[in-house]
Amino acid sequence: MHIPIETEDTALVIRVNQNRDPLLVYIGKRLCNSTEYASIPSFDAKQRNGDYSGQYSAAYTPSGTRNLLEPAIQVIHADGNPSLDLKYVSHKQDMVNGSSAIILTKIQLKDPVYPFEVILYYKAYYKENVIEQWTSIRHTETDVVRLQKYSSANLYLSSAHSYYLTHFHGDWAKELKPEEMLLTAGIKVLDTKLGTRADLFQAPSFLLSMNQPIDKDNDDHGEVLIGTLAWSGNYQIQFEIDPLNNLRLIAGINPYASEYILAPDTEFVTPSFLFTYSYHGSGMASRNLHRWARKFRIPQGEDTRLTVLNNWEATFFDFNENTLAALIKDGKKLGVDLFLLDDGWFGNKYPRNDDRAGLGDWQENVLKLPHGIGYLIKEAEVTGIKFGIWLEPEMVNPKSELYENHPDWVIKAPNRPEYYYRNQLVLDLSNKAVQDFVYGLVDRMFTEHPMLAYIKWDCNAVIYNAYSSTNPHQSHLYVDYVHGLYNVLDRLRRKYPTVPIMLCSGGGGRVDYGALQYFTEFWPSDNTDGIERVFIQWSYSFFFPAIATCNHVTDWGKQSLKFRTDVAMMGKLGYDIVVSKLDEHELSFSQESLRIYNRIKHIIWYGDLFRLVSPYRSGSDIASLMYVNENQSQAIWFTYLINNRYRAGSNRPILLKGLDPTKTYKIQEINIYPDTNNSTIINENNVSGDYLLTCGFNPMVDDKRKSVVIELTEQSL
Ligand code: DGJ
Repeated sequence: MHIPIETEDTALVIRVNQNRDPLLVYIGKRLCNSTEYASIPSFDAKQRNGDYSGQYSAAYTPSGTRNLLEPAIQVIHADGNPSLDLKYVSHKQDMVNGSSAIILTKIQLKDPVYPFEVILYYKAYYKENVIEQWTSIRHTETDVVRLQKYSSANLYLSSAHSYYLTHFHGDWAKELKPEEMLLTAGIKVLDTKLGTRADLFQAPSFLLSMNQPIDKDNDDHGEVLIGTLAWSGNYQIQFEIDPLNNLRLIAGINPYASEYILAPDTEFVTPSFLFTYSYHGSGMASRNLHRWARKFRIPQGEDTRLTVLNNWEATFFDFNENTLAALIKDGKKLGVDLFLLDDGWFGNKYPRNDDRAGLGDWQENVLKLPHGIGYLIKEAEVTGIKFGIWLEPEMVNPKSELYENHPDWVIKAPNRPEYYYRNQLVLDLSNKAVQDFVYGLVDRMFTEHPMLAYIKWDCNAVIYNAYSSTNPHQSHLYVDYVHGLYNVLDRLRRKYPTVPIMLCSGGGGRVDYGALQYFTEFWPSDNTDGIERVFIQWSYSFFFPAIATCNHVTDWGKQSLKFRTDVAMMGKLGYDIVVSKLDEHELSFSQESLRIYNRIKHIIWYGDLFRLVSPYRSGSDIASLMYVNENQSQAIWFTYLINNRYRAGSNRPILLKGLDPTKTYKIQEINIYPDTNNSTIINENNVSGDYLLTCGFNPMVDDKRKSVVIELTEQSL
């Protein structure tokens, strides 16, 4: 029997053989005739293929019976037996909410001896070509079962002769640096053990290119799978090239220090693993994921966003009511929608005047803000802009009243010295009382200040000395922490479904589709240097849509204000600068940039992204990408000089993408810095899409025109 899980272009096919073993026999292009999946050769015929266990291609590999390779699940039964077998029992395929846009497949598996059951879920988003997969585990044994590994997904890829993995690693201010490798025999593991800020060192998102390295010259070429785990805590993604030279991919919560004790008749549901398989390179794969994220995952993903003036880099901790009131007015003058008050506004016994004290004491500092937040919100209202605030609800400085009053709310191991990350500790969100505290803090902000329009939710520390003083199972802490966090966010979203909340984690240490079901946007990095940011945003763009990517113009880096503004415009534009220090030209340029952005932002937010020239391509002088609206009538095209060597520049036309060859476009440079001779206005009329796609166009980027933004508009003839 075959169970095809299909989207418009892709299929994942599970074969149930005569032993009732569920095997994953196919991931690839959807066949026109689904009965033909039955002809796909099997890998479980042991003599012929050398699969000694008949399990290499298992749809969810159990362990302790005959498996020889990495398992997806490992358990110790109530009677101490450490083995598991999983046989097919039944399956069901249903439309979600009565629409064929999403089909949910549910495959029930059971151990033939123990009352232990696994359900594999596959949600196929038809148009977006995204498959979301998770697992539910349950038993009715006489006592608890110890889950030692409980993955979300187990894929088997057998159609390519080689697999190239691009993974993304980094640290603070250098997030998501790509690295590509040929997967060779054995296991490559991507993981984190940081507890919070889970993707600070290594993102749970990757590209997998079949048969050849990712084509850095053509983003729309090649067979590429993009995968990502929707989990904001410790994760593990394993890529195993098996003895048959096929790829086994196992993704889920990291089993490290996380044995989970499952009581009878309770369900453990894993987080989701998401993937999209593209026959048109990482370009199409990203567009699939972006569309899916906007439509199905990110709150208000197809709605609007607020432009922001943040005060973090303008003031750091050094401000008072008057300076903030002036900044609010500056925000209005600049033309943003909202003023965002960052860190440093709270704490009295231990004032938050630097990052060593006060975190956790969420009362306005009376010296800095004698009339409280309410006064500032009023000021903003009178001035005509909205007001938002920074919180870091999951964390505490040891120098705080919160810590003094609730030392048992903090994650720290007995008999060990406290060890700090940015002078702070993490609150134990596996504790219900702590969840209530965090929920209550955010809820109180909104109840006391109904006009509060935005939250930046920060998370700067990782978990050291993982130990909970209340959790009966220490090995549950890492998992329960994330469940506790999601529980709080879930409650908040039920009460405040539309308020914009920025996901921040000391830069971009926590960007994943688990967190992004609650956050409207995220902060990719504290590094806002214009050049650095071209690279960082490029990496994020593989997985996350522009509408959710907050890019602020700041004073980092040596690039011009225009360069930094153009770069920030590629996502959700914001500012973190001292507006009063801008000279006349800089101010009027920034005001005009915001006007332009408001005019074109719908193309960037909801359009399709086409990456044209990669900054990561060896010897590349430029980076270039464009957004095209759905009916291909408007596009915004960004190009940057990223190399300062002699005569570096866009020395030849760049082939555009995503346009309609039959349409005719007007090409106009926009966001030009006032009074510069360098910015020659290109204003070409009647250029066909066909020409632009085939012969290209040179934006003339060089050392005098380091960044160029071009608007393309369909012309009616
Ligand atoms: C880290 C964030 O990434 C910054 O934007 C800022 O909010 C600081 N934390 C404040 O402490």
